[in-house]
Amino acid sequence: MYKGLPLGDLPAERSAAEIGMVFQNPEAQIVMDTVWHELCFAMENLGLSQQTMRSRLAEIAGLFGLEPLLYQPLHTLSGGQKQLVNLASVLLLQPEVLLLDEPTAQLDPVAAREFMDTLRRLNEEMAMTVIISEHRLEEVLPLADRVLLLENGVLRLDGTPREFVQYAGHSGQELTAGYLPAAPALFLALAPEPLAAPPAEIPLTLREGKSWLGRAYHEAGGVGSSTSGVGNRPSAGATLALPEADAPPLLSARELSFRYEKDAPEVLRKLNVTLRQGELLAVMGGNGAGKSSLLYALGGLVKPQRGKVTLAKGVKSGYLAQNPLLYFSHDTVIEELQQMAAYAGMSESESGWEIARLSSLFRLGEVLGSHPLDISGGQQQLLALGIVLLQKPGVLLLDEPTKGLDPAAKDALAAVLKHLRAEGIGILMVTHDVEFAARHATRCAMLFDGGITAEGAPAPFFGANYFYTTAVNRMMRELLPDALTVEDVRRQWPNTDIRC
Ligand SMILES: Nc1ncnc2c1ncn2[C@@H]1O[C@H](COP(=O)(O)OP(=O)(O)OP(=O)(O)O)[C@@H](O)[C@H]1O
Ligand SMILES: [Mg+2]
Repeated sequence: MYKGLPLGDLPAERSAAEIGMVFQNPEAQIVMDTVWHELCFAMENLGLSQQTMRSRLAEIAGLFGLEPLLYQPLHTLSGGQKQLVNLASVLLLQPEVLLLDEPTAQLDPVAAREFMDTLRRLNEEMAMTVIISEHRLEEVLPLADRVLLLENGVLRLDGTPREFVQYAGHSGQELTAGYLPAAPALFLALAPEPLAAPPAEIPLTLREGKSWLGRAYHEAGGVGSSTSGVGNRPSAGATLALPEADAPPLLSARELSFRYEKDAPEVLRKLNVTLRQGELLAVMGGNGAGKSSLLYALGGLVKPQRGKVTLAKGVKSGYLAQNPLLYFSHDTVIEELQQMAAYAGMSESESGWEIARLSSLFRLGEVLGSHPLDISGGQQQLLALGIVLLQKPGVLLLDEPTKGLDPAAKDALAAVLKHLRAEGIGILMVTHDVEFAARHATRCAMLFDGGITAEGAPAPFFGANYFYTTAVNRMMRELLPDALTVEDVRRQWPNTDIRC
């Protein structure tokens, strides 16, 4: 029902004008050739005057930082830039209701926060109703009035954010708890009796979290800044099998320079990077910084104008693109996998065994008979990775592999990556997911201005950043400077046995 009318009875013009929708995959929504045309397309369809269109465009393009891209063809935009164009084109219609499916999945942390702040203002100041489906709740939960929890199509909870936290705190709800932002997650992990606390005491925002943690830390017997704060202890996930700095390099790039067209600006400028056996290198950077372009160059998909990429002898690289739909050309999930296994030269029995192993690891068993376009965004992501893994690469180049994944699927992905590392595979992953990088990367790097500007183990790398760091680190940096994850804080909390 919408304002008393069944949705089916709502005239198309009214639903187009009043209900704005943004889908999960930005590629699916783009219809025009340039950014300018895309932004104007829906406004033209609503018959808005030139004057109105221009003034709305000026406002929203400024707000989203799209001015420099206005005349650029859409196919040349980065993944995050496309997502911003989609979000902007819907807001230009000034809808009364906004439906968003994982709107920030491909935005860098700064753009994601700015977008959420825009939503908050539209909601508070313009009374816009916003419905968001999200896996990453760090920014969303504190803004929400209501939270609905869906599990296999069943509504498990309809409550306030704090009721959601309490629900997640009950035993048996570990999967739900994986969704919680850092502040309430730490509260549940560390408060003496978290579920007995009055809901108002549950911290939701980083500010509330920081103030609760400061008090709780001293009450637990912690004093001043932690003496363990040497600043370079690796995070929990990475401690195992941290590759030696002298492990053999599998892939190295020297002095890479790349531009898309002759007179276009350089996207990569004398960039150097080495990937060693058994490591997981997470490369971060703003939208449009050149991360996907770097993977194209390393994977041999584009030819850099200068510099050299060297692969160790006999090593193949496997590349997972930012858009998983590029990998699908058959009618069912199982056919996609079988065809790739055949292409990779596997015998029928080997192929059967490998596909069974991958589909169980990635929990794709139930969708093997489905059309690849009919499965969830997260499942598409895992299927595309499965297709790449069937080629048995020695080096893996992954572009945003965690987008669209729920916490359990992320854990499954992390377990697979760890297993591949133990086999000696080197993984270079481009990501905006700082929490995943902090937890699982062995090394992190920042791509800025065409080159790698900072690089190091997760703790010193994130400790030196202000925005590109985990929510836990932002709350705890004065007390426990090298804690990046909830597990790190639990391990270093005063006067506790190791609780995790
Ligand atoms: N095919 C292309 N032709 C021309 N320019 C391009 C092309 N693809 C990307 N660009 C431009 O190159 C720059 C780097 O894009 P790239 O896709 O590598 O960014 P990114 O770091 O992966 O960003 P995101 O985080 O949004 O995915 C951007 O300014 C983009 O507009
Ligand atoms: Mg990209």
